Amino acid sequence: MDGVSTAILLLLLAVISLSLTFTSWGKGQLPPGPKPLPILGNLLQLRSQDLLTSLTKLSKKYGSVYTVYLGPRRVVVLSGYQTVKEALVDKGEEFSGRGSYPVFFNFTKGDGIAFSDGERWKVLRRFSVQILRNFGMGKRSIEERILEEGSFLLEVLRKTEGKPFDPVFILSRSVSNIICSVIFGSRFDYDDERLLTIIRFINDNFQIMSSPWGEMYNIFPSLLDWLPGPHRRVFRNFAGMKELIARSVREHQDSLDPNSPRDFIDCFLTKMAQEKKDPLSHFQMNTLLMTTHNLLFGGTETVGTTIRHAFLILMKYPKVQARVQEEIDRVVGRSRMPSLEDRVNMPYTDAVIHEVQRFADVIPMNLPHRVIRDTPFRGFVIPKGTDVITLLNTVHYDSEQFKTPREFNPEHFLDDNQAFKKSPAFMPFSAGRRLCLGEPLARMELFIYLTSILQNFTLHPLVEPEDIDLTPLSSGLGNLPRPFQLCVRVR
Ligand code: HEM
Repeated sequence: MDGVSTAILLLLLAVISLSLTFTSWGKGQLPPGPKPLPILGNLLQLRSQDLLTSLTKLSKKYGSVYTVYLGPRRVVVLSGYQTVKEALVDKGEEFSGRGSYPVFFNFTKGDGIAFSDGERWKVLRRFSVQILRNFGMGKRSIEERILEEGSFLLEVLRKTEGKPFDPVFILSRSVSNIICSVIFGSRFDYDDERLLTIIRFINDNFQIMSSPWGEMYNIFPSLLDWLPGPHRRVFRNFAGMKELIARSVREHQDSLDPNSPRDFIDCFLTKMAQEKKDPLSHFQMNTLLMTTHNLLFGGTETVGTTIRHAFLILMKYPKVQARVQEEIDRVVGRSRMPSLEDRVNMPYTDAVIHEVQRFADVIPMNLPHRVIRDTPFRGFVIPKGTDVITLLNTVHYDSEQFKTPREFNPEHFLDDNQAFKKSPAFMPFSAGRRLCLGEPLARMELFIYLTSILQNFTLHPLVEPEDIDLTPLSSGLGNLPRPFQLCVRVR
C-alpha cells in the first residue's frame, strides 16, 4: 500500500471512530468510565499486562458497572457476582445479544449459533440443543461414548510407561473425538489426518486468541488486518477447518437417508431440504458450516484446557489427589470404570472438579454480550446495541461468595457435613439465555475423564509441587495454563 492510501485509510478510521465516540454521548445515562480519546478510546488505560487485569483494575475505580472504549467501540463492563447475575439472569432477555468479537466475526460474519443474534440465533439454538439431546447429550448414550473414548485415552496414557509427556495434544485429541462423533457420526482413529488437522487448527487459534495479538485484533481489527503477525494465522486456520467440514458435508450429502439421520450434519441437511422453498429459512449451507465449526471449537479446547488445569492443581496439592483417589476406590473400586451415577456418592470429587473450574476460570471475560434494547440497569440506561463484557473472573473470585477466593479450596463446594454444596456464583459456563450449550456434555466429560484417570494412575510433576506455578500463561479468550510435562504412574 502506498503512502497516500495509508493516509486516506487512517483519516477514514479517525472519522469513523470520532463519529462513533461522539454520537454515543448523551444517549440515555451511560455508566461512568474513563474519558476516551478519539480512535484510541481508553487504550492508554488498558496497557497493563492484559485486558482482564486492566478491566478489573478499572472496576475498582469506577464500580461494578462502567463504560470503557476499546478503540472506537463502546463497551459496558460488569463485575462481581451480584451485578453479573442481575444482567445475565434477571435481565436475561435484554442482555441476550452477542457482542462484537472481530476475531470470530471476520470469519463467521455473524452466521452460526455462537455469533448470530435475534430470531436466527433462537432458531439455531433450539434446533442444536434438540439434536444434541437426541444424540444423547446429558443422557446415558453419550456417557457410553465418553467411557469408550476415555478407555482409549487410558490406553495412550499407559503407553507412556511412566515417562514424561506434554498432555496438550493427547487430551485435545481424545476430548475432540467425542463432539466429532456427534457431528460426523463416528470417532476418528487417533492418527486420522482429519482429527489431527482439527486439533492443530483449534489449539493454535485458542492460543493466539488468548494472547495480546488476539486482544489487539478485537480492539483494532481494521488496523491489524494490514499488519503482519500471528493473528493472520487465525483466519488461515479457520478457513482450513471450514474446508474440512465442507468436505465431510459433501460426503454426507452423497449418502444421506433423511429417515435415518446418523449425526448432527445429517439432521441439519434434512432440515435444509425441508425448508428449501422458504427464502427466509435459517437453515443454509453456510450456517451449517459455521454451526458445526462453533460446536467443534467450543467442545474441544475448553474441556482439554480445564483438564490440564486440573492436572497441575492435583500435582501441586498431592493430598487433594490422594483424597479423590481414596473416594474413587471406596465408591467405584478398581474393577469397573466410574459412571455418572457414582457422582452423587462422591461429594469430595465433585467439589474438587467444581473448584478446579472456579479457580481455573477458563473463559475469564465470557464471550461478549449485547443489549438488544435500551436497558435500565442499576440506575443507568445502557443504549440498545451496546456491547457488554461480563467479567466471569470477578464472579469466581468474589470474596462475598467464596471464603478464600484466591486459594484452591474444595471446601468452597462442601457443607459442614462434607456433602456437596452448590454455589450460585459458579459460572464457568456463564448463565442465562446464552449459557454454554455444551454444559451437560462438558460436565460429564470432566467427571468421567478425571475419575477414570485417577482410578488408574497417579500424576507426578517433574518439579517439586511447591514450584508448580498455577498462574495462567495468558488470559484473553481463555486462561491458558503454563506449558508443562508430567508422568503418570500406574497405581
Ligand atoms: C469446560 C468446558 C466448557 C466451558 C468452560 C465453556 C464455556 C462457555 C462460555 C463461557 C460460553 C459463553 C456463554 C455466554 O455467551 O454467556 C460458551 C458458549 C458456548 N459453548 Fe461452551 N464451554 C465448554 C464446553 C462446551 C462444549 C463441550 C460445547 C459443545 C457441545 C460447547 C459449545 C458452546 C456453544 C455452541 C456456545 C455458544 C452458545 C450461544 O451463543 O448461544 N461448549 N461456552
